[in-house]
Amino acid sequence: MSGRKFCVGGNWKLNGDQKSITEICKTLSGASLDPNTEVVIGCPAIYLMFARNLLPCSIGVAGQNAYKVAKGAFTGEISPAMLKDIGAEWVILGHSERRAIFKESDELIAEKAEHALAEGLKVIACIGETLEEREAGKTNEVVARQMCAYAKKVRDWTNVVVAYEPVWAIGTGKTATPDQAQEVHAYLRQWLTENVSKEVAASLRIQYGGSVTAANAKELAKKPDIDGFLVGGASLKPEFIEIINARQ
Ligand code: PGA
Repeated sequence: MSGRKFCVGGNWKLNGDQKSITEICKTLSGASLDPNTEVVIGCPAIYLMFARNLLPCSIGVAGQNAYKVAKGAFTGEISPAMLKDIGAEWVILGHSERRAIFKESDELIAEKAEHALAEGLKVIACIGETLEEREAGKTNEVVARQMCAYAKKVRDWTNVVVAYEPVWAIGTGKTATPDQAQEVHAYLRQWLTENVSKEVAASLRIQYGGSVTAANAKELAKKPDIDGFLVGGASLKPEFIEIINARQ
């Protein structure tokens, strides 16, 4: 085995209210979860404290975004310092929805990652190609470009988990096959060996994301370079427990 601790993130996106979050947290609290899997819940910012208070300490909570400075005149933003202050240890950055809908650039995302790490948060750094890019044979080129932007700003990768999420698989029900995912994960390790270091390539955890369900998680989890998942839709359902336990 790789020695990398399996890590499963739930990304609730813009979903949930006090009632449904209470239910999900109750289900997670009562479930028997693989102690060898690290679990992180990406909760809407406004409910982070609420979820933090309902979840066991063994489950981390994450913001789904955070700005690149601690405070100031940035109406509508939240900062890593604020996330830490309310008990969140993680932040998800560079999700494809932030890139596509909110026009976040590779550079801005990398600056956010740099600042979040400096403030002591752990970062789930997302990358992934669109369908058009994949069909044009540009998958490796795109993920390398996105990794390169992070690598310009990240000095210490200890608190980083990369989430490889092909955009065409997100919310579409079209999961990458285990072989397709493994191929990109292996390429990312090769890229890290060549551009960062052998040590980081061996130790950095790389999650797969995109239509992960209880039905496909076990097969994906068998691949040597897949170290966990970032789960959207299925993280709102009881099947999330089975995904957390995919390695059991
Ligand atoms: P999905 O979303 O599991 O609903 O495809 C994954 C993600 O966006 O992180």
